[in-house]
Amino acid sequence: MLAAIRRLFARPSKELPELPPVTLRPIGAVRSRVKESQPPGFDWSGVVSRIVVRPELADALLGLDTYSHVKVLFWPHLIPADVIGSKHRLHPRDDPQNPLQGILATRSQIRFNPILVTAVPLLSVNGNTIKVRGLDAIDGTPVLDVKPYVPHFDSIPDAKVPPWLTAARAQPAQSPTNVATKSQDHPSRSS
Ligand SMILES: C[S@@+](CC[C@H](N)C(=O)[O-])C[C@H]1O[C@@H](n2cnc3c(N)ncnc32)[C@H](O)[C@@H]1O
Repeated sequence: MLAAIRRLFARPSKELPELPPVTLRPIGAVRSRVKESQPPGFDWSGVVSRIVVRPELADALLGLDTYSHVKVLFWPHLIPADVIGSKHRLHPRDDPQNPLQGILATRSQIRFNPILVTAVPLLSVNGNTIKVRGLDAIDGTPVLDVKPYVPHFDSIPDAKVPPWLTAARAQPAQSPTNVATKSQDHPSRSS
Protein backbone atom coordinates (compact mmCIF):
# COMPACT_ATOMS: atom_id res chain seq x y z
CA MET A 1 0.00 0.00 0.00
CA LEU A 2 2.73 2.43 1.09
CA ALA A 3 4.76 1.41 -1.96
CA ALA A 4 1.76 2.11 -4.22
CA ILE A 5 1.32 5.60 -2.72
CA ARG A 6 5.04 6.29 -3.10
CA ARG A 7 4.85 5.27 -6.76
CA LEU A 8 1.84 7.51 -7.34
CA PHE A 9 3.71 10.58 -6.12
CA ALA A 10 7.12 9.61 -7.46
CA ARG A 11 8.71 12.38 -9.53
CA PRO A 12 10.89 11.55 -12.53
CA SER A 13 14.49 11.48 -11.37
CA LYS A 14 16.85 14.01 -12.85
CA GLU A 15 19.29 11.12 -13.17
CA LEU A 16 17.08 9.37 -15.71
CA PRO A 17 17.15 10.30 -19.38
CA GLU A 18 14.03 9.89 -21.52
CA LEU A 19 13.24 6.18 -21.90
CA PRO A 20 11.35 5.76 -25.17
CA PRO A 21 9.89 2.33 -25.97
CA VAL A 22 12.20 -0.17 -27.64
CA THR A 23 10.90 -2.29 -30.51
CA LEU A 24 12.39 -5.74 -31.09
CA ARG A 25 11.79 -8.20 -33.92
CA PRO A 26 12.28 -11.84 -32.94
CA ILE A 27 15.06 -13.71 -34.74
CA GLY A 28 12.97 -16.88 -34.72
CA ALA A 29 10.72 -19.11 -32.66
CA VAL A 30 10.88 -22.17 -30.44
CA ARG A 31 9.39 -25.45 -31.63
CA SER A 32 8.74 -27.79 -28.75
CA ARG A 33 6.46 -30.60 -27.65
CA VAL A 34 5.61 -28.51 -24.60
CA LYS A 35 2.56 -26.53 -25.68
CA GLU A 36 1.57 -24.81 -22.46
CA SER A 37 3.20 -22.87 -19.66
CA GLN A 38 4.31 -25.22 -16.89
CA PRO A 39 4.08 -24.90 -13.10
CA PRO A 40 7.08 -23.77 -11.05
CA GLY A 41 9.35 -26.72 -10.36
CA PHE A 42 8.67 -28.49 -13.67
CA ASP A 43 11.85 -30.21 -14.83
CA TRP A 44 12.71 -28.91 -18.30
CA SER A 45 16.16 -30.46 -18.36
CA GLY A 46 15.19 -33.31 -20.70
CA VAL A 47 13.03 -31.30 -23.09
CA VAL A 48 14.57 -31.14 -26.55
CA SER A 49 13.46 -28.19 -28.64
CA ARG A 50 14.38 -26.44 -31.86
CA ILE A 51 14.92 -22.76 -32.39
CA VAL A 52 13.96 -22.01 -35.97
CA VAL A 53 15.70 -18.83 -37.04
CA ARG A 54 14.36 -16.57 -39.80
CA PRO A 55 15.87 -18.02 -43.00
CA GLU A 56 17.50 -14.74 -44.02
CA LEU A 57 19.51 -14.84 -40.76
CA ALA A 58 20.81 -18.41 -41.19
CA ASP A 59 24.31 -17.26 -42.17
CA ALA A 60 24.59 -15.49 -38.83
CA LEU A 61 24.82 -18.92 -37.16
CA LEU A 62 28.29 -19.62 -38.57
CA GLY A 63 30.55 -20.84 -35.77
CA LEU A 64 27.82 -21.31 -33.18
CA ASP A 65 28.21 -25.09 -33.36
CA THR A 66 31.76 -24.81 -32.01
CA TYR A 67 30.29 -24.03 -28.57
CA SER A 68 28.78 -26.59 -26.21
CA HIS A 69 26.13 -24.27 -24.73
CA VAL A 70 24.11 -21.23 -25.75
CA LYS A 71 22.18 -18.55 -23.96
CA VAL A 72 18.69 -18.07 -25.37
CA LEU A 73 16.75 -14.85 -24.80
CA PHE A 74 13.04 -15.23 -25.37
CA TRP A 75 9.70 -13.50 -24.93
CA PRO A 76 6.87 -15.35 -23.12
CA HIS A 77 4.23 -14.30 -25.60
CA LEU A 78 1.30 -16.09 -23.93
CA ILE A 79 1.44 -13.95 -20.80
CA PRO A 80 -1.67 -11.74 -21.01
CA ALA A 81 -0.88 -8.06 -21.63
CA ASP A 82 -2.57 -7.00 -18.38
CA VAL A 83 -0.39 -9.38 -16.37
CA ILE A 84 2.91 -8.09 -17.75
CA GLY A 85 4.32 -5.59 -15.28
CA SER A 86 1.28 -5.97 -13.02
CA LYS A 87 3.29 -7.04 -9.98
CA HIS A 88 6.19 -5.30 -8.29
CA ARG A 89 6.60 -8.00 -5.67
CA LEU A 90 5.69 -11.66 -5.35
CA HIS A 91 6.45 -14.86 -3.50
CA PRO A 92 8.76 -16.79 -5.86
CA ARG A 93 7.40 -20.00 -7.35
CA ASP A 94 3.90 -18.98 -6.14
CA ASP A 95 4.88 -20.31 -2.72
CA PRO A 96 3.91 -18.09 0.23
CA GLN A 97 6.66 -19.80 2.23
CA ASN A 98 9.22 -18.10 0.01
CA PRO A 99 9.91 -14.54 1.15
CA LEU A 100 8.25 -11.64 -0.66
CA GLN A 101 10.67 -10.43 -3.31
CA GLY A 102 10.81 -7.49 -5.68
CA ILE A 103 10.13 -8.78 -9.19
CA LEU A 104 13.61 -7.70 -10.28
CA ALA A 105 15.03 -9.95 -7.57
CA THR A 106 13.33 -12.98 -9.13
CA ARG A 107 13.43 -15.02 -12.34
CA SER A 108 9.65 -14.80 -12.72
CA GLN A 109 8.27 -14.45 -16.22
CA ILE A 110 5.87 -11.74 -15.00
CA ARG A 111 8.19 -8.75 -15.30
CA PHE A 112 8.05 -5.24 -16.69
CA ASN A 113 9.91 -6.32 -19.83
CA PRO A 114 9.46 -10.10 -19.84
CA ILE A 115 12.78 -10.94 -21.45
CA LEU A 116 13.67 -14.43 -20.27
CA VAL A 117 17.12 -15.95 -20.57
CA THR A 118 18.25 -19.55 -20.19
CA ALA A 119 21.63 -21.19 -20.76
CA VAL A 120 21.23 -24.62 -22.37
CA PRO A 121 23.31 -27.38 -23.97
CA LEU A 122 23.58 -26.98 -27.73
CA LEU A 123 22.84 -30.23 -29.56
CA SER A 124 23.22 -29.17 -33.19
CA VAL A 125 23.02 -26.38 -35.72
CA ASN A 126 21.57 -27.26 -39.13
CA GLY A 127 20.73 -24.59 -41.66
CA ASN A 128 18.49 -22.19 -39.80
CA THR A 129 17.67 -24.59 -36.97
CA ILE A 130 19.35 -24.77 -33.58
CA LYS A 131 18.57 -27.84 -31.49
CA VAL A 132 18.90 -27.47 -27.72
CA ARG A 133 17.97 -29.33 -24.55
CA GLY A 134 16.40 -27.93 -21.41
CA LEU A 135 14.96 -24.71 -22.79
CA ASP A 136 12.06 -23.58 -20.58
CA ALA A 137 10.15 -21.95 -23.44
CA ILE A 138 6.94 -23.39 -24.84
CA ASP A 139 6.14 -24.08 -28.48
CA GLY A 140 5.86 -20.90 -30.56
CA THR A 141 7.81 -18.69 -28.15
CA PRO A 142 9.50 -15.79 -29.97
CA VAL A 143 13.28 -15.87 -29.63
CA LEU A 144 14.95 -12.46 -29.31
CA ASP A 145 18.59 -13.49 -29.37
CA VAL A 146 21.01 -16.40 -29.10
CA LYS A 147 24.57 -16.06 -27.80
CA PRO A 148 27.31 -18.60 -27.21
CA TYR A 149 27.78 -19.47 -23.54
CA VAL A 150 31.28 -18.42 -22.58
CA PRO A 151 32.31 -19.62 -19.10
CA HIS A 152 34.89 -16.87 -18.90
CA PHE A 153 32.09 -14.26 -19.10
CA ASP A 154 29.02 -16.13 -17.94
CA SER A 155 30.10 -18.38 -15.07
CA ILE A 156 30.65 -17.02 -11.58
CA PRO A 157 31.24 -20.14 -9.49
CA ASP A 158 31.25 -18.37 -6.12
CA ALA A 159 28.09 -16.31 -6.81
CA LYS A 160 25.81 -16.06 -3.75
CA VAL A 161 22.07 -16.92 -3.70
CA PRO A 162 19.64 -16.59 -0.77
CA PRO A 163 19.05 -19.71 1.38
CA TRP A 164 15.32 -19.91 0.51
CA LEU A 165 16.25 -20.42 -3.14
CA THR A 166 18.63 -23.26 -2.32
CA ALA A 167 15.86 -24.91 -0.24
CA ALA A 168 13.20 -24.36 -2.94
CA ARG A 169 15.37 -25.95 -5.60
CA ALA A 170 15.70 -29.09 -3.49
CA GLN A 171 11.94 -29.71 -3.74
CA PRO A 172 10.73 -32.36 -6.23
CA ALA A 173 9.61 -31.30 -9.70
CA GLN A 174 5.88 -31.01 -10.36
CA SER A 175 3.83 -33.01 -12.84
CA PRO A 176 3.73 -31.50 -16.30
CA THR A 177 0.55 -30.41 -18.03
CA ASN A 178 -0.15 -31.04 -21.73
CA VAL A 179 3.32 -32.35 -22.49
CA ALA A 180 3.77 -35.03 -25.11
CA THR A 181 5.37 -38.05 -23.54
CA LYS A 182 7.88 -39.05 -26.19
CA SER A 183 10.45 -40.56 -23.87
CA GLN A 184 13.57 -39.41 -25.72
CA ASP A 185 12.43 -35.82 -25.32
CA HIS A 186 12.13 -36.11 -21.57
CA PRO A 187 14.82 -38.49 -20.37
CA SER A 188 15.33 -36.80 -17.03
CA ARG A 189 11.86 -35.49 -16.27
CA SER A 190 10.69 -36.31 -12.80
CA SER A 191 7.03 -36.22 -11.83
C1 LIG B 1 10.03 -18.70 -14.78
S1 LIG B 1 10.43 -18.40 -16.47
C2 LIG B 1 12.20 -18.45 -16.38
C3 LIG B 1 12.83 -18.33 -17.72
C4 LIG B 1 14.36 -18.24 -17.70
N1 LIG B 1 14.97 -19.48 -17.24
C5 LIG B 1 14.81 -17.09 -16.87
O1 LIG B 1 15.30 -17.31 -15.77
O2 LIG B 1 14.72 -15.94 -17.32
C6 LIG B 1 10.08 -19.91 -17.30
C7 LIG B 1 8.59 -20.18 -17.41
O3 LIG B 1 8.02 -19.34 -18.40
C8 LIG B 1 6.89 -19.99 -18.92
N2 LIG B 1 6.88 -19.76 -20.36
C9 LIG B 1 7.75 -20.23 -21.27
N3 LIG B 1 7.45 -19.82 -22.49
C10 LIG B 1 6.32 -19.06 -22.36
C11 LIG B 1 5.50 -18.36 -23.29
N4 LIG B 1 5.79 -18.32 -24.60
N5 LIG B 1 4.42 -17.69 -22.82
C12 LIG B 1 4.13 -17.70 -21.51
N6 LIG B 1 4.87 -18.35 -20.57
C13 LIG B 1 5.95 -19.03 -21.00
C14 LIG B 1 7.03 -21.47 -18.64
O4 LIG B 1 5.95 -21.90 -17.85
C15 LIG B 1 8.32 -21.57 -17.89
O5 LIG B 1 8.22 -22.46 -16.81
